[in-house]
Amino acid sequence: MTIKSVIQGTGSYLPSKILTNADLEKIVDTSDEWIFQRTGIRQRHVVSEGETTSTLAIEAARRALEASGLNAEDIDGVIVATTTPDLTFPSVAVHVQEALGLPANMAFDIQAVCTGFVYAISTAHSFLQTGQAKNILVIGAETMSRILDWTDRTTCVLFGDGAGAVVLSAVEGEKEDRGIISTHLYADGRKKGILCTSGGVSKTQDAGMIEMQGRDVFKYAVKLMHDVVDESLSENGYTGADLDWLVPHQANVRIISATADKLGLPMEKVVMTVSKHGNTSAASIPLALDQAVRAGQIQRNQLILLEALGGGLTWGATLLRF
Ligand code: ACO
Repeated sequence: MTIKSVIQGTGSYLPSKILTNADLEKIVDTSDEWIFQRTGIRQRHVVSEGETTSTLAIEAARRALEASGLNAEDIDGVIVATTTPDLTFPSVAVHVQEALGLPANMAFDIQAVCTGFVYAISTAHSFLQTGQAKNILVIGAETMSRILDWTDRTTCVLFGDGAGAVVLSAVEGEKEDRGIISTHLYADGRKKGILCTSGGVSKTQDAGMIEMQGRDVFKYAVKLMHDVVDESLSENGYTGADLDWLVPHQANVRIISATADKLGLPMEKVVMTVSKHGNTSAASIPLALDQAVRAGQIQRNQLILLEALGGGLTWGATLLRF
């Protein structure tokens, strides 16, 4: 009996406070024109006092659970992709478990920065395939605003806060054509220095702040995204023409269009939300996915490709029938 890992529901949440490019002009030497031309970003959402990665994750997860039609007691596990947990421990995942009244099954966080959601959904897929779980809440949640140097114009204009979630369920293949087709995960630690934080718990006893060599990240993002989307399609006998939607990590319009170009994919088939919330790291793919699902763009049975690159470097893709 084949088991399919099917997305049964999606949800997302953005904090209410918005920082526009015009707001940033008052903080650092930048302009709306520079930010928009280089990145496609117009605004980002940021947390206020009392909001944390967990509070965002809980709300996104609540919405995904509701959309799935399942109940709290059906959930066998929670996996949260995050680089910005509330605490060093316990995980954001256990905060979500407690808040939603989920059973005392597995709950843990995954850290692969902007590729985190692709790593998390691949991990959940493996649990479903080996029969260790039936329904897993997979969440990407970040408060990147907490690790930004607000005096550094080369990084603080790029990132934002938010959360997205899906419920991934094991369904017998005979009953369902939908589900994950393949996952492709990569990391290259030799490039860890081009996108990292200035500190961390064990080294500096604080979280550090984001440091980035933007041009190098851009160059690798374009090349590695192309390689991984190409592999995901060709290994399954597809081409770009077969795709209904590309749901890329929302970092930068220019990186996304370069990937779409290489695939020969018209921009109408690319979910693009980066202008509204900037780069939300591990939250960006489930956020974009949920917005496209709720807008009626993404429909059941459509062929979807998720792809991302982030610090590590890490990168990866997931091909699925929604
Ligand atoms: N406002 C105005 N000027 C700025 C700003 C800013 N916010 N930031 C940098 N500049 C200046 C620089 O100081 C430089 O000035 P100089 O020529 O006088 O020295 C000039 O703009 C050009 O700087 P570059 O860094 O060469 O600009 P570039 O065209 O490469 O764009 C950017 C920078 C947008 C960061 C680009 O490199 C990029 O998109 N890289 C990918 C980074 C990314 O997306 N990271 C997210 C995490 S990884 C991921 O998610 C894929």
